[in-house]
Amino acid sequence: MNLIQKIHKQDDAHGRHAHDEASHTPKAPFWVRYYDAIVGLVTLGRTRSMHQGTIRLANLRPGDALLDVGCGTGKLIFAAEKVIGGAGTAVGLDVEAGMIAQAKENAAKAHSPATFDVASITQIPYPDDSFDVATSSLVYHHLSPAEKSEGLREVWRVLRPNGRLLIVDLNPSRRGLAVRLPGHNQLAQEDYVSREVVEQMQAAGFTNITSGAHPFKQLSFAVGTKNA
Ligand SMILES: C[S@@+](CC[C@H](N)C(=O)[O-])C[C@H]1O[C@@H](n2cnc3c(N)ncnc32)[C@H](O)[C@@H]1O
Repeated sequence: MNLIQKIHKQDDAHGRHAHDEASHTPKAPFWVRYYDAIVGLVTLGRTRSMHQGTIRLANLRPGDALLDVGCGTGKLIFAAEKVIGGAGTAVGLDVEAGMIAQAKENAAKAHSPATFDVASITQIPYPDDSFDVATSSLVYHHLSPAEKSEGLREVWRVLRPNGRLLIVDLNPSRRGLAVRLPGHNQLAQEDYVSREVVEQMQAAGFTNITSGAHPFKQLSFAVGTKNA
């Protein structure tokens, strides 16, 4: 199993249940410590510009309440906080405890007030109508068909009326990023975001859906609104 595959696999020994024995504080397992560096490598050092493109597509405004689902180490959130400002709130959610532990470490270093929780997109632990915007970056292709439909329904539930969901994921038809990721060559060679994601967002109740090419080549996006 290579490092990237390991990142995407639940690892009970070092992942979800990694704890500092002395303090009982969850600690990021060793492989998560390399996650940001690996993303930097596969994006050829353009992680920041990838996140900036996502933030522009999310059309964030000062004061927004933001949920980032599958937040990984939290880097997108820290960039988004520059737009939502002190009046905004940001929450990161990830199914991997190791990612959340690393996100919390990164937040402390970045003096970020963002909060982070371990949970799956299929069981979001927040009340209905909590967020103005939800983002999900490079997560969708990891989800099973059931997780995709349940997850979209959950995101719809926690968004406020007129809240927006932005999904960003690989577009294998534009080559590049997807083919640099070990274990990702099984992805269909087509823009599944503009087709499958749009259809599933419609099924979950989202309206005003638009999709297209992300400013970061090799990615696509779909954005929709919760019109309750
Ligand atoms: C490739 S990483 C992307 C991380 C981050 N969003 C980014 O853009 O760098 C995919 C993330 O999705 C998370 N993930 C996978 N399945 C999930 C689920 N069912 N619910 C929430 N997060 C999930 C993984 O743990 C991982 O952190």
